Amino acid sequence: MAKQIKLEPIDHEVSVKTNNNLLSMLLQQKLNVNWKCGGRGRCSTCHVYIQSGAESLSPKSKRELKTLELISNCKENSRLACQTRVLGEGVVIELPAGMYLSEINDLDTLIGKRVQQPILHPLDGSVLVQGGMTITRSIVNELKKALQEIDQILSKT
Ligand code: FES
Repeated sequence: MAKQIKLEPIDHEVSVKTNNNLLSMLLQQKLNVNWKCGGRGRCSTCHVYIQSGAESLSPKSKRELKTLELISNCKENSRLACQTRVLGEGVVIELPAGMYLSEINDLDTLIGKRVQQPILHPLDGSVLVQGGMTITRSIVNELKKALQEIDQILSKT
């Protein structure tokens, strides 16, 4: 049986099969979710906030709690979409604002441009570049360095 889920801030309602995880629903909606670790609960790039209906979701596992501890923008209502199964009705999800650094194909094309939304660290969700900032070459170099470090970390997991 399916359950209805509401997505904010895009004000979109979707149907999810009972016991399916939130990540598969987000991917079906073609939303901008990075899922860098492939849904293993290790990277936090599927981080969402639960605005309501937390009791209709599977409880947090030890793995999820451990990963959430590392996210700088983690709140009481944070969940990893890949680790969260839908069990009941009334769930409202808030997608964090911003785009993950690893989603940007060619960083050099950003030089001289003003970013509309924050650029986020793909592992801990921290804001690397605030929305509204103009990107300079030195910022791009810092971002490239961060990407290399992230790839090294992920290759060890
Ligand atoms: S996809 Fe990596 S933690 Fe969910």
